[in-house]
Formats: sequence, C-alpha cells, structure tokens
Amino acid sequence: MVTTPLLPSDYLDLVSPLRAGADLRGRIEAVHPETGDAATIVIKPGRGWRGHTAGQYVRLGIDVDGVRLWRAYSITSPTNRYRQDGRITITVKAIPDGKVSNHLVRRARPGTLIHLDQPTGDFVLPQAKPAKVLYLTAGSGITPVMGMLRDTEFDDVVMIHSAPQPHDVIFRDELHDLVTDKKLRLTEVHTDTDGMLDIARLDELVPDWTERETWACGPAGLLDAAEKHWADYGVQERLHTERFRPSVVVTGDGGEVTFSATGKTVDADGATPLLDIGEEAGVLMPSGCRMGICFGCVTPLKTGAVRDLRTGEITEAEPGVLIQTCVSAAAGPCDIER
Ligand SMILES: Cc1cc2nc3c(=O)[nH]c(=O)nc-3n(C[C@H](O)[C@H](O)[C@H](O)COP(=O)(O)OP(=O)(O)OC[C@H]3O[C@@H](n4cnc5c(N)ncnc54)[C@H](O)[C@@H]3O)c2cc1C
Ligand code: FES
Repeated sequence: MVTTPLLPSDYLDLVSPLRAGADLRGRIEAVHPETGDAATIVIKPGRGWRGHTAGQYVRLGIDVDGVRLWRAYSITSPTNRYRQDGRITITVKAIPDGKVSNHLVRRARPGTLIHLDQPTGDFVLPQAKPAKVLYLTAGSGITPVMGMLRDTEFDDVVMIHSAPQPHDVIFRDELHDLVTDKKLRLTEVHTDTDGMLDIARLDELVPDWTERETWACGPAGLLDAAEKHWADYGVQERLHTERFRPSVVVTGDGGEVTFSATGKTVDADGATPLLDIGEEAGVLMPSGCRMGICFGCVTPLKTGAVRDLRTGEITEAEPGVLIQTCVSAAAGPCDIER
C-alpha cells in the first residue's frame, strides 16, 4: 500500500534493474560500428540470463519513440565458456526504414536499458563435431555464424560469404585473421561486381560441398536456392538454415480489421501481416521474431478469418483460437483482440 500506485518492484527496477528475479533486462554498454550500416551492441544481461548456445538468437525489446518494439537478433559473442565477463553481443545491420535496426545502429547509447528474453533457436552446432563444415552466408546472415566461428574451432571450415562490396563485409578483418591463421578458408562474393552467387558454382568453389555439414543464413533467394540444391543432391539433412524473415508464399483478398480492445478499424490487404497492420494503426501489438517461430505475437481471433502467409491455410474464429499475427493476414473482415 505504501508504494501504490507503483509496486515495490517498480522502485527496485529503478535502482537495480538487472537484479535476479526482475523481468529479464539488459543494459547496452557499448556500440561499435562494423560497417557503414552495421554495428555491434555490447549488452550486459541481468542476473536471470541463462546463457546461450552458439548460433542462437535473443528477442529484445527496446523503446523507440515511446513505443516498445521487439525484434530478434543472433548472438555474435561466443558462449560464456570463452567470454567470461558475462556480456553478450549482437550485430545489427540497419535496413532502409527499419525502426529498430536504425535505432540500434545509429541512436542507441551506452546505459540504455532493454528487455530481453532467454536465448533460443535451433540453428546451432551439434554436440559431435563434424569433420568438415561449410558456412554459406550473405549480408547480415553472417551474424549467427560469427557466433559459431568465435565459439568452436573445426579442423576443416570453408565459408562463402556474399556482400555488395568488400567494405560491406561485416567482421571482414576478423575473418581475414582466421584465414591467415589457417582456421578458415574464405571466398567472398562481391555481388555489385560478381553478381549474385549462383548456387551451381558450389561445385567449383567447394568441390566436396555434399560431404560438409552446412549452416546457411541470408536472404530468402539464397536459402531457397540452397534448400533446392541440397535436396536435388539428396543431402538435405546436411543443410541447416536460419531465416530472418518469413517466406510469404500465399496471399489473397484482405478485409476490414477491427482491433476491438483498442477500438480501431482499418482496411487491410491480404498480403500484409496483421502485426504490421496493427502497429501502423497505433495498436500495441506484442511481437518477437516477426517470422512465425517464437510465438511472441499470438493473439485471440474473435471473429472472421485470417490466412497463414506461409501456407495459405485459413483459420476461422472459434472460442480460444489464437493466431500468430506476424504471419497472418486478413482473409475477409476480422476482429483481433488487441
Ligand atoms: C532468428 C532471427 C535472427 C535475426 N538476427 C539478426 C541479426 O543478427 N542482425 C540483424 O541485423 N538482423 C537480424 N534479424 C532481423 C531483425 O529481427 C529485424 O527484422 C531487422 O533488424 C529489421 O527490423 P526493423 O525494426 O529495423 O525493421 P522494420 O521496421 O520491422 O521493417 C522495415 C521494413 O523492412 C522490411 N524488413 C524487415 N526485416 C527485414 C530484413 N531482415 N531484411 C530486409 N527487409 C526487412 C519490412 O518488411 C519493412 O518493409 C533476425 C531475425 C530473426 C527472425
Ligand atoms: S513474432 Fe515470433 S511468431 Fe510472431
């Protein structure tokens, strides 16, 4: 009663936001530019942080212009076997019009408190070390792989990385140091001059690619081509992929969307996720990965129908039905309980 309307924990948050038992937070301790549009953010997680496995990502919530936005970022620091100061790093590439990425790369300052979830994701190295490894990455897709490279050494590692130009290659100096130390064989593809990597070139670049356990992360075009190529050669079980965005394969007619708790109604097309529609309308929408894997966005569907953009499957409202707003679009008029 003494602290009403705030809870005692709210006062504790002011003096000790990273304490054990508090909602998991982190404090930005430094921001290191990597390229013209990418930066590494050093974060000190609070006491409840359970540690990550190389290759995993963390969901992070940050206030941008007064609105809390959640996004997922791969952890680029090695596990705490090797980084013993308890800090983690993420490395963010600012994308055009990207709210969180631009904020983190260009405006985040040391001392900023952020919200964190426990790390998660199955784009990780196996317990038993494979004899030969291939990392196939492009752009910011290098981030989970850098977490792996910094954590675990293999006898035989090849990497093919694509970026527009040499100065766009994130972690370039560190990669070249690994090459000098004979810990990595690296092919850089500079797409402004070389064009996009044609997956058929693998035979020439890495003749034994079918024998290699492969981790691939990059834009949908690269990953779609890789998945088809590995499947065509019958070695799909050797390929592990991580996507930063969902593959939208099916769209249809949209409809009028009502956010009944907020009292807003907007017209939506059949291709835009309801998460984006809600945020655009100023509705407070929970979110996380924004690509259908973390379930941080699930919301009751009160009436109407929505379409899963990955499969085309229609979900109709029934008592207790939850939808993932990040991969669902309106399929006619609907009411979302937000
Ligand atoms: C598992 C996972 C790990 C990730 N790890 C990293 C990481 O290590 N480093 C990193 O920089 N990003 C990473 N991402 C992407 C990150 O979560 C955000 O999607 C990205 O930073 C864009 O957020 P934003 O708020 O800046 O853009 P938004 O404001 O959400 O979007 C702005 C515009 O850009 C488009 N857009 C959204 N995301 C992307 C994208 N990834 N590429 C191109 N266009 C996009 C949107 O459709 C929209 O038109 C990861 C995503 C996932 C799911
Ligand atoms: S935000 Fe992760 S599943 Fe929708």
